[in-house]
Amino acid sequence: MKRFFALMLSAAMCLSLAACGGNQAADTSTSGDTQTAESTGEKLKVGVCIYKFDDAFMTTYRNALQAQLEEKGYEVTVVDGNNDQAKQTEQINTFITQGVDALIINPVMTSAADSIIASVKQADIPTVIINREPTADQMAAYEKLVYVGCDAAQSGTFQGELILETENKGDINGDGKISYIMIQGDPENIDAKLRTEYSVKALTDAGMTVEQLDLQRGDWDRNKGQEIAQNDLAKFGDQIEVVFCNNDDMAIGALQAIQAAGRTVNEDIYLVGVDALDAALNEVVAGNMTGTVLNDANGQATQAVASMEDLLGGKTFAAGEQSIYVDYVKVTPENAQEYIK
Ligand code: BGC
Repeated sequence: MKRFFALMLSAAMCLSLAACGGNQAADTSTSGDTQTAESTGEKLKVGVCIYKFDDAFMTTYRNALQAQLEEKGYEVTVVDGNNDQAKQTEQINTFITQGVDALIINPVMTSAADSIIASVKQADIPTVIINREPTADQMAAYEKLVYVGCDAAQSGTFQGELILETENKGDINGDGKISYIMIQGDPENIDAKLRTEYSVKALTDAGMTVEQLDLQRGDWDRNKGQEIAQNDLAKFGDQIEVVFCNNDDMAIGALQAIQAAGRTVNEDIYLVGVDALDAALNEVVAGNMTGTVLNDANGQATQAVASMEDLLGGKTFAAGEQSIYVDYVKVTPENAQEYIK
């Protein structure tokens, strides 16, 4: 009898804790077919797959994701894909076997999206894809799947506008054309493709003539950004008026090469990136970068968690409505300080 009362008491305590806890992870577990955690009293499990840990932007992003998920009471496991799709596919399969309640995936290769989507669909696991956007057709295969990211074209347009807003609109030597080099991310990635295209399109749409001196893949990497800029500066010298980088890490590398070559940003060369990493924001404030574009890691993490909770709550997404975008923000010396963390 004593034992019975003890059990009743602990059951009552559990109930009252759940009632006043206001914990979204616990709340979510009460709806739909996600009663696993509710019935066992365990936390909901979330598996997070990051394409590689050694990426400055994705480090800020994954830290924000982990903090937000833990704060909401989820049991979170974050794994490093080491930029190896085969490895990430195994990690996804392991999460599926372990029976996670939801997955958040930053694919190594968007070309693997079909097989990733087929696996999570077969296992019936609500999934949020982040940062590397599959096509709408690929996502349409599974209604418990959403993409959370940004409209990459917008970041490219903002980069072009940053150049157009300079006193000579990027034509430093006044020869009637903007001569630039483009340091690209991984060209398989839609962010890299669209930033490359739209940064230049903003210039031509404004009626400017452009000359591409070089375009090379720097794979989002600071050292590669430095090497490419160094070689191009040696080869093209003063002809280079603008250095477009698809992200800030490569721009910081390029800045090292620019300074080593004795050039001065905003005087005889312009330099723009994307992400608004703290290191880049400091350079913008100091006048060593013309500008950058805020790629809102915290905002995207918040949206990814909210979308995951929608899915856990039983919401499904129709084809063509599976991409959720967070806005980019243009960053100049005037507003850069606001974004330093
Ligand atoms: C960011 C890059 C990052 C890449 C990873 C892009 O959106 O701008 O800095 O390396 O995502 O996929």
